Amino acid sequence: MSQVDPVNTEFANPNLEILIDTETLQARVREMGAEIARDYEGKRPELICVLKGAIVFISDLMRCIDIPVTMDFIAVSSYGKGMNTTGEVKIVKDLDEPLEGRHIILVEDILDTGLTLSYLANNFRARGATSVKIATLLNKPDRRKTSVDVAYQGFEIPDRFVVGYGLDFAERYRNLPFIAILKDPDV
Ligand code: IMP
Ligand code: MG
Repeated sequence: MSQVDPVNTEFANPNLEILIDTETLQARVREMGAEIARDYEGKRPELICVLKGAIVFISDLMRCIDIPVTMDFIAVSSYGKGMNTTGEVKIVKDLDEPLEGRHIILVEDILDTGLTLSYLANNFRARGATSVKIATLLNKPDRRKTSVDVAYQGFEIPDRFVVGYGLDFAERYRNLPFIAILKDPDV
């Protein structure tokens, strides 16, 4: 069988500039998982994955949290297919399970303007969650429009559009095993 054309491989795409490599990501995710396990000892937190971007992060993170946990998924739309937020948050796929009495850890790929996570955290509190904390892999503080309390953060990054490890541009690049800056979105 033919091999993948090296010119067309995605991971070596010349339009990508690696910002956080695989090893650095994995090491930090392990630390975050251990910290969460310590903080929630004796509890059974519910990890809520914000689809689709957080799926890669949560699947690595949860395997580093050595206490009983459950998980659920929610999907929101706020960005459409491009690079800029419309500022509107809409739940497009809701949770399967009720939140009353649960300790929620909201797991997100990136905190940018803060609109998504502040909306979701308030929404979950209103549904009767006992506690709501945020775990985000990336934090882009330069673009914040509303203040958000972050309990667990992987990396603070500059105001650049990044892809990989779950993060996409127009649904592409989620499969990269690292975080990269997308140099030219038009390519
Ligand atoms: P916020 O409501 O502005 O904080 O938006 C967070 C969401 O915007 C994330 O879940 C991502 O889907 C998306 N987003 C923000 N910055 C980036 C980026 O640099 N690359 C890819 N998606 C991003
Ligand atoms: Mg997202």
